[in-house]
Amino acid sequence: MVAHARLPRLAHANIPASMNSHEIPTQRGASQMNQSHSYEAAMTRALELALRGPAFGVNPQVGAVILNPAGEIVAEGWHEGAGTAHAEVMALQNASQFFDEDGRLPSGYTAVVTLEPCNHTGRTGPCAEALIRAGVSRVVYAVSDPGQESSGGAATLTAAGIEVIGGVKAEAAAAQGRVWLTATRLQRPFVTLKWAASLDGRAAAEDGTSKWISGPESRADSHERRSRVDAILVGTRTVVADDPELTARKPDGSLYEHQPMRVVLGETELPNEKRVFNDDAPSVHFRTRSIHGALAELFQRGIRHVWVEGGPKVASKFARLGLVDEFIVYQAPLLIGGDRTAIRNLDIATMSDAIQLEFVEVKRLGNDIFIRATRKEA
Ligand SMILES: NC(=O)c1ccc[n+]([C@@H]2O[C@H](COP(=O)([O-])OP(=O)(O)OC[C@H]3O[C@@H](n4cnc5c(N)ncnc54)[C@H](OP(=O)(O)O)[C@@H]3O)[C@@H](O)[C@H]2O)c1
Repeated sequence: MVAHARLPRLAHANIPASMNSHEIPTQRGASQMNQSHSYEAAMTRALELALRGPAFGVNPQVGAVILNPAGEIVAEGWHEGAGTAHAEVMALQNASQFFDEDGRLPSGYTAVVTLEPCNHTGRTGPCAEALIRAGVSRVVYAVSDPGQESSGGAATLTAAGIEVIGGVKAEAAAAQGRVWLTATRLQRPFVTLKWAASLDGRAAAEDGTSKWISGPESRADSHERRSRVDAILVGTRTVVADDPELTARKPDGSLYEHQPMRVVLGETELPNEKRVFNDDAPSVHFRTRSIHGALAELFQRGIRHVWVEGGPKVASKFARLGLVDEFIVYQAPLLIGGDRTAIRNLDIATMSDAIQLEFVEVKRLGNDIFIRATRKEA
């Protein structure tokens, strides 16, 4: 396992004394309430730490903190990506000053983790075992691990006599970890469908041109989001019409460190000179129209988040198949008219069959409006 010693050990950090679970009055109800507040505060910190890991790749972003018997955060950890120590292991390493000579924590220490500790030996050992070996008294986690191989950590911990509390800040953790959780549960990549459209919902003009529909702030936002996904997918006609590079670029034109794989879908042969096939990032052309097949192949290759950039035909097909987990729309104050709508036929004959969405995030971006929406739960 990789050792992480970069974090200063924290003494008495972050949780206000008023939230401290062990300074709580004797009354049982009040004690339980304050204890859960304390775990929530610790989980909030663990969720912040999780974001230090990469958003892309096969492994989840996970954060962890260790609480001493007084309920204070004494060590922190997070997962830095496949092949590196898991968050709980990094946090335990950063708590090593509190270990006795047998390498165990004294009684009363709690590990607070954003994801149920894993139970399997991947490239690193099972976290449940590491927590048992370290002698923690209690493990608090936010969301269960949906992985076929990695789940079951809570049961292992309980069987070892450790108190386990699940579901603390579960909603926030599920929202933050939605890409990995969804991909792992469904065994296919999480799909974000993105488009830029005029106020009247057009994605291109009559002649097929669609460059510069949205403004510079929207484009910068979209490129930054590209730098956090595993793959960008378009249909062959977008490559023919726009010759896009599909790289993730900063406003000064330089490339982000992480470049997603560029995926072109469709049977049309494309010349190698198309910019999507340049050396700036990996590319693959799937000469098929099978979206399920393409997603299965991408999942197999370790892709967990696909960012679909259109065009309208491919976008509509993803939506029609119910394969879009999140919609991102940049809506610009333009009217274009005509029939080049961002989404085409969805085979919806009547309003009651409309795909119901809900807005998760809406904000101004320069002159445009940014919308993030998901499918409404039935
Ligand atoms: N505003 C925006 O955000 C935005 C984004 C992208 C593109 N655009 C504009 O959109 C236009 C191109 O869009 P488009 O709708 O004509 O084409 P498209 O969606 O880019 O590509 C359509 C092609 O993809 C292939 N394909 C693969 N799987 C498919 C499936 N399951 N269903 C349907 N097609 C599949 C087919 O080509 P094969 O015959 O090769 O199999 C199909 O003709 C351009 O004008 C471009 O400028 C706008």
